[in-house]
Amino acid sequence: MVPFLIAGMIACKGTKKQEMVTSEVFGNHNGKEVFLYTLTNKKGDVIKLTNYGAAIVEISVPDRNGVRENVTFGYDNLEGYINGDPYFGKVVGQYANRIAKGKFTLDSVEYTLDLNNVPNSLHGGTTGWHSRVWDAQVLKNTDFPAVRFTYNKPDMEECYPGNIVAEVVYSWTDNDEIIMDYKVSTDKRTVINITNHAYFNLHGTGKGDILDHEAIIRASAFTPVDSTLIPTGEIRPVEGTPFDFRTPHLIGERIGMDEEQLKLGGGYDHNFVLDNAEEVDAMVYDPSTGRVIEVLTDQPGVQLYTGNFLDGTQTGRGGRVYQYRSGFCLETQHFPNSPNKASFPSVVLTPDEPFLSSTTYRFSVR
Ligand code: GAL
Repeated sequence: MVPFLIAGMIACKGTKKQEMVTSEVFGNHNGKEVFLYTLTNKKGDVIKLTNYGAAIVEISVPDRNGVRENVTFGYDNLEGYINGDPYFGKVVGQYANRIAKGKFTLDSVEYTLDLNNVPNSLHGGTTGWHSRVWDAQVLKNTDFPAVRFTYNKPDMEECYPGNIVAEVVYSWTDNDEIIMDYKVSTDKRTVINITNHAYFNLHGTGKGDILDHEAIIRASAFTPVDSTLIPTGEIRPVEGTPFDFRTPHLIGERIGMDEEQLKLGGGYDHNFVLDNAEEVDAMVYDPSTGRVIEVLTDQPGVQLYTGNFLDGTQTGRGGRVYQYRSGFCLETQHFPNSPNKASFPSVVLTPDEPFLSSTTYRFSVR
């Protein structure tokens, strides 16, 4: 298919016009056109996005020698997104992570969700927001290349109440930051939890595992899980546990320890209760390439997931194969199963006030 430019000749400051956002047709799904957007910042670093699942498709950033590599999981074409792993780089909603036994009660009404992760409901159900073609708009007169994706979710789709308008604006700054600004409104009381499900490998995707990456997570506590990965309700201090990433530790340093929570998760697959006290909430560094990702969020939690379910069956962009633990996720979020845990921060969304939230992935080298 010949790529063609449909939008995005946006004037930068100065005399020269620079192409900041270009788009090409990626395919068609259920009668809706799907596009691939390329956002280039002043450094010449590139991210690619698609309106299928409002996904991040590619992040090409330099190592300490200036060599650019794609560091996030994605597919070369739309078929990959439709038939492959459901979550790579996507926006996940209406409720990211798990809801126990697929049931919650709001205002005395019990809602029964898709049990797509038996015995629980995961990431908004099989046909959650990740599987939808979002409307897209390339933003003009912005400081940085930016695209807005919007999804209008009908009442009771995937059994969640509320006609919802969900928006995410991706901006790609000249400081290699992906800023994700979310706005979600509803016409009925409902519950939401929204995240981006990007996987990262700072070596470059398909180049070994992420056990040699060094992580910092500014969280003094985490939410231990049961055998179905549902939080027990306990907020457990990380002190003295393999979940203490307040000082840097390699991801692989303690992952194989004979420890109950690591065994239940098959590695790290846990929600950390962020201190939210500093600008940067989490950071991962790859000593071999020098690449760093920092995560900044206003959300109360982050799921560290170390790709424990990856098994080499997915082949992604450029023919790269995604093996066991070859990617990690830092999914900023409210705590899993919050609708059933009154002690967790509330996830109730009401018609009088939209949910506004921002998360940034910032890339650099050391
Ligand atoms: C993560 C979740 C994992 C797994 C993964 C998708 O968010 O914590 O348990 O379900 O998504 O494969």
